[in-house]
Amino acid sequence: MVYLAADHAGVTLKDALIVYLQQQQIPCSDLGTNTTDAVDYPDYAHRLCNTIAGTENRGVLICGTGIGMSIVANRLTDIRCAVALNPEMAYFARRHNNANVLALGARLIDAECAQHILDTFLSTEFEGGRHEARLAKIDYIGMVATLPAP
Ligand code: RB5
Repeated sequence: MVYLAADHAGVTLKDALIVYLQQQQIPCSDLGTNTTDAVDYPDYAHRLCNTIAGTENRGVLICGTGIGMSIVANRLTDIRCAVALNPEMAYFARRHNNANVLALGARLIDAECAQHILDTFLSTEFEGGRHEARLAKIDYIGMVATLPAP
């Protein structure tokens, strides 16, 4: 399942991506917002991340830049969120970082570009190997205030 959420700046792109996913018969779920009335992006990032944390599901968060959504998402355990402005960023976010949440900036990319990024995000597998230990360090950093110097 792919969960999508957006603030007022991202709602139009979110709705377009939901139509795109439905056309491809990819299961998806809309976690709001559903109007262009101003809302606070942390509320929607939090809602989506709480929904997918600890599952195999993926998330897509959309705000004006993708930055605010990603800052919130990456505070939450089991969430690895990456902003992508092109398919290459989405590719490496999956291959190297095992990102489970994609953040998009509706004021920075058009719907066609967003579709290509989303295709890449959903179709690319994590590489594993040497990246496993690095992800384990990210989890460890999430549990402690400081790390010994490398
Ligand atoms: C809303 O104006 C804007 O700040 C928000 O969508 C997002 O870009 C924040 O990072």
